This record gives sequence, structure tokens and C-alpha cells, in this order.
Amino acid sequence: MKKIYVFLLPLFVFTIAVSVSSCTKDEEPKEVIADDNTFANYASWSLDAQRQGVDPSLGAAHGGNDSTTVRKIYFKDGVSRSGDEYPVGATILKYSVNSDKSVNVRTGMVKRGNNFDPEHNDWEYFIIKPDGTIAKDADGNVLRGANLMNGACVGCHSGAASKDYIFTK
Ligand code: HEC
Repeated sequence: MKKIYVFLLPLFVFTIAVSVSSCTKDEEPKEVIADDNTFANYASWSLDAQRQGVDPSLGAAHGGNDSTTVRKIYFKDGVSRSGDEYPVGATILKYSVNSDKSVNVRTGMVKRGNNFDPEHNDWEYFIIKPDGTIAKDADGNVLRGANLMNGACVGCHSGAASKDYIFTK
């Protein structure tokens, strides 16, 4: 009787290992298309980085030319790289605000996947309103895309290409 158990045990462990790994594989979505709920409640996410003050490499971007600007970076579900890249669906919001609130900007990035922008690791860039919804310009165009702001976002974030386009974590 005991002998049978010893014989079956490796098979049992193997079966569990296979089902667990195929389960994790199934959980990673192919594509995540952000909507107005994606960034809701960002202020309760994991505040994994904070920067303050002038950063010459930023220029005016993210209010980085103002010594009073505070830049808070929130990672949804505390997401991190798995291997070299963030997983599809990784969602990050950066809130930049200065003392007189003339800078008061929320920007976002979502790893969209599905060859959305294969040359730049499939990130989509966003401008986010205070209530967490995706902003629109005066003409009603939704402020999102791989080339948002004529490619300014992805252009500068390419400086962090070796870290999957994310500077702070
Ligand atoms: C001139 C460079 C520059 C431009 C342009 C720029 N960023 Fe950034 N961004 C940075 C730097 C540097 C950080 C790291 C945090 C810091 O130093 O404030 C950052 C951080 C972020 C983060 C947090 C994730 C991370 O990389 O740490 C998000 C989200 C973000 N930027 C979105 C955007 C979006 C959306 C745009 C375009 C509307 C944009 N950025 C334009 C330089 C830039």
C-alpha cells in the first residue's frame, strides 16, 4: 500500500505544478484597453515613488521646472516587472502638483499589449482628469495613445527603454 503512494506522489506533484502554471498563463490577458474606470481611486494605490523639485532632464514636463512641484507615482496593485517587462494591464499614474496649483496634472501609462506599439513595448499614454476619467481636448479628442502629445511622452520615456519605459520602479 505504502509503495503505491510513494510511486504516485511525483505524478501528483507534477499534475498540480502543470495546472498551476497553465493557470497563471491563462490569467495574463492579451490586451488591456483602459476605460474611464481604469484610473478611478488611483490615490488609494501603492505610492511607490515620489519626486520633488527641479529636474533639468524634465524641462517643463510633469512640472519638473518648478522647485515646489511634487510628483507622486502610484502603481495599481503595486505592480512590478515580471522578468524584464511589466505585465499586460500594468497601470501607473503620476500626479504632479505645485504650490499654487498652476501645475496640477495627472498622467497615466497602461501596458496595453497585443502589438499596440511593438517598437516601444506596447504602452499606451494618457492624460487623466481629477476624477480619474480619461481627459479630452477642446475638440473632444480623447487624450490617449502610443503617440500622445505628438510622441513627446514616448520620446522622453524612451530614455528608460532598458527599464521597460518606466523611470521610477
Ligand atoms: C521630458 C521627459 C518626459 C516627458 C515629455 C514625459 N515624461 Fe513621464 N516621466 C518622466 C520622468 C523622468 C519620470 C520619472 C518621475 C520623475 O522624475 O518625476 C516620468 C514618470 C512618468 C510616469 C510614472 C512612471 C515612471 O516612468 O516612473 C508616468 C505614468 C508618466 N511619466 C507619464 C507620462 C505621460 C502620459 C507623458 C506625456 C503626456 C509623459 N510622461 C511625458 C519624463 C517625461
